Amino acid sequence: MSSCLAQGHYRVDLRRASGWRVAARQAKPAENDPAGNIRSRLGRLHRGAILDRCPLKWLSSSPDPVQFSYAFLGTSFAKLGVLPVQADVSPSPLETTLLGSALHASVARHAPNGGNPMSASEENLVAGAKLYRQMCSRCHGLSRESDNTYGRSFYPPAPHFALSRTSYTDTEMFWIIKHGIRNTAMLAWGNLLSDDEIWQVVTLLREFNSLPDSVTLELRGHHK
Ligand code: HEC
Repeated sequence: MSSCLAQGHYRVDLRRASGWRVAARQAKPAENDPAGNIRSRLGRLHRGAILDRCPLKWLSSSPDPVQFSYAFLGTSFAKLGVLPVQADVSPSPLETTLLGSALHASVARHAPNGGNPMSASEENLVAGAKLYRQMCSRCHGLSRESDNTYGRSFYPPAPHFALSRTSYTDTEMFWIIKHGIRNTAMLAWGNLLSDDEIWQVVTLLREFNSLPDSVTLELRGHHK
């Protein structure tokens, strides 16, 4: 929005600036005060240019007819109620591909540099398993046999980590878990978990299908 406004006022300024040059060329000097005449015309134009720098003024004074028509058509179309909003359907292949690649690109851009600082020790994996069972399993499943109807019922659905491997790297997973994914059920865990706890869960997810027995027991709630 701000960049579109910025472009808008840049364009208006350019238009204004070229008009200013034309006006300067066309201004007919009055016989008795040639310089004063040109100065006052330029002054008026300059004041206009300054006013145009205010985005709100630009919006209200000179709406771009093409942009205005698109906005009007878009709003009218949405108001017809034809856009689907229910969550109990699968996202279309087009939507999955387009939004999926935009999401992956954004996560890759924002994820921290470096690697996972947490070693895959039994202690860290057990701690990750405990957190995962309490916080994540309801949406993302526990074992290959467990059902995640709850997680599958969101739009987009939550992936079942025992059944499908994630394509994200450790640092990308860390970023997703910490910040969440906008407009989905994936919340920002940074408000609830420390960075170390998030890394422990990431380490668990990385090893999810080859966990030591002690960690599998913790995951299923059977403590030693
Ligand atoms: C309320 C349901 C819910 C909970 C609880 C939840 N998630 Fe998610 N999560 C989702 C959904 C839905 C997605 C898919 C979002 C998308 O595809 O854009 C997701 C996506 C992810 C992804 C990206 C995976 C991929 O390959 O696409 C990771 C990693 C993840 N969640 C980890 C976690 C962890 C770790 C926890 C617990 C700390 C957790 N989630 C808790 C709903 C949830």
